[in-house]
Amino acid sequence: MPPSMQNNAALFGYVDEIAKLTLPKSIVWCNGSQEEYDGLCDFLVGTGTFTRLNPERWPNCFACNSDPSDVARVEDKTFICSRRKEDAGPTNNWMDPKEMKLKLNAHFAGSMKGRTMYVIPFCMGPLGSPLSKIGVQITDSAYVVVNMHIMTRVGDKVLEILRTDGEFIKCLHSLGAPLDINQKDIPWPCNPTTKYIVHYPEDRAIASYGSGYGGNALLGKKCFALRIASVMAKEEGWLAEHMLILGVENPKGEKTYVAAAFPSACGKTNFAMLIPPEDMKGWKVTTVGDDIAWIKPGKDGRLYAINPENGYFGVAPGTNEKTNPNAIAALSKNSIFTNVGITPDGDVWWEGLTEKVPEKIYNWKNQLHDPASGQPVAHANSRFTAPAYQCPSIDPDWENPSGVPISAFIFGGRRSTTIPLLYQAFNWNFGVYMAATMGSETTAAAFGELGKVRRDPFAMLPFCGYHMADYFNHWLQLGRNLPNPPRIFGVNWFRKDENGKFLWPGFGENMRMLKWVVERVNGEVSAIESPIGWMPKFNDIDWGNLNYNIEQYDDVMDVDREAWKKEILAHEELFSRMFDRLPKEFFFMRELLLSSLWRSPEHWSLAPETH
Ligand code: OXD
Ligand code: MN
Repeated sequence: MPPSMQNNAALFGYVDEIAKLTLPKSIVWCNGSQEEYDGLCDFLVGTGTFTRLNPERWPNCFACNSDPSDVARVEDKTFICSRRKEDAGPTNNWMDPKEMKLKLNAHFAGSMKGRTMYVIPFCMGPLGSPLSKIGVQITDSAYVVVNMHIMTRVGDKVLEILRTDGEFIKCLHSLGAPLDINQKDIPWPCNPTTKYIVHYPEDRAIASYGSGYGGNALLGKKCFALRIASVMAKEEGWLAEHMLILGVENPKGEKTYVAAAFPSACGKTNFAMLIPPEDMKGWKVTTVGDDIAWIKPGKDGRLYAINPENGYFGVAPGTNEKTNPNAIAALSKNSIFTNVGITPDGDVWWEGLTEKVPEKIYNWKNQLHDPASGQPVAHANSRFTAPAYQCPSIDPDWENPSGVPISAFIFGGRRSTTIPLLYQAFNWNFGVYMAATMGSETTAAAFGELGKVRRDPFAMLPFCGYHMADYFNHWLQLGRNLPNPPRIFGVNWFRKDENGKFLWPGFGENMRMLKWVVERVNGEVSAIESPIGWMPKFNDIDWGNLNYNIEQYDDVMDVDREAWKKEILAHEELFSRMFDRLPKEFFFMRELLLSSLWRSPEHWSLAPETH
């Protein structure tokens, strides 16, 4: 530990308190060096957690399998323990913080016995940025330490900034798997029965118990950068959002930055790293972040965003050279793979990586894959942890301490009907309404009935650290204070026809929509007024070599009057849960939308001759 730190009483007190509670066999202060990373990876190979991959094909890469009980975030075990229940709101689990602390202390007592306790000082956001914030994670998992090395900025350089009196978020994590004196460790220790992911917003503290996996254990990500940061953002007048940030460069070299929110598993990483189709010469997309954005009003009245993360914790299945060559390049070295398939010669594979499954491969449960079994090789939520700087599309300003100026927000879900491919909200307030009511059809049985629309306001439902209706009010209030707020757009890449066929090819072709968004915010194109917002004219979309005719366009852009009336009435289900704090504006906007639908034609055409 650097000498400058020796008087940070708050930090020492915290580490001491946790050590006394959890009783580790030793304490290691992480300095963030390459030697530390390499040493811990070797250690994890030794415990059987990591398999070192073939160094020629996958330089400095490792793969591992989790316990089958520990494969995803545990939303039903995630709590916002604000002092008052009302402040957590109806969409979060809540328990009285005193009661929760007592309960958790019983679990944490002695939970690190036989293990090393690592102290990881980390910074969310570029070092030295006024928008960045510091956390200290205490963990008994070496897997967590190496992942934190990739996903955040860690070690002495963070302590130098923290100095003796800086503020930090307390992040406590234990696997909940103490070891007896002669007990041999297992490859993926965790607590198979008890898991808790707990946030204390007023104390700015997090406690995570029992899971070693991703969003449950890498506390800088969802726990700090979204749940705790959203509370800080509300108090301090900024935004902590579940958004990617990308830059769009036009052929003149002008750059426009866009932030976009999509629920989990809607292709955020692909969109953030999009490669424009070949016919769109001179257009380029650059990546600032793929999951989280911290956004603050600047002195000039614009919003500036940073990516608080330092790496990608991306979903592996479906990622390949065609869907996302930038991600493939980013994960090709110095990366960690969790719950993918591993071959005996040190290769990894997941569904969609290549067309053919490798001949002999061990699945994510470490069993020899039997093609006849119908079982997948990789878990559907298997992940890569890859350093952000390795992404070829990384934006030159991705670590700019001032952030990048945001000109547009895009909100989208996975909807097979009703929601058009692209539209623009009439104004900020309608945009907030649009984002508050967005939803996605469930794809995994985990979320209940298949195909049902699960409302996921701002893609923040599992990540907002306070009452969701207060969050809507915060967005409305922020807009009131901006002289020229970013424009807000809705997209839906997933609309289908009556035969279940996608109406839009997606992926790189999404660039055609992005181009319209950018031209629109720069005042370069007009639009057609529909009952739900502004829509692009057919002739204003750069179709290039894409064979897409006006009938197809009208289908994918259709505002079906009856379907939309149902849609708007369905918003009631969400609103009724948070009625007491819902912005009053929402009721008026809902009425306005309904009445304009009432007066609108049954279907819409955006054909040139109709305008
Ligand atoms: C994620 C998520 O892992 O949103 O990013 O679930
Ligand atoms: Mn996410």
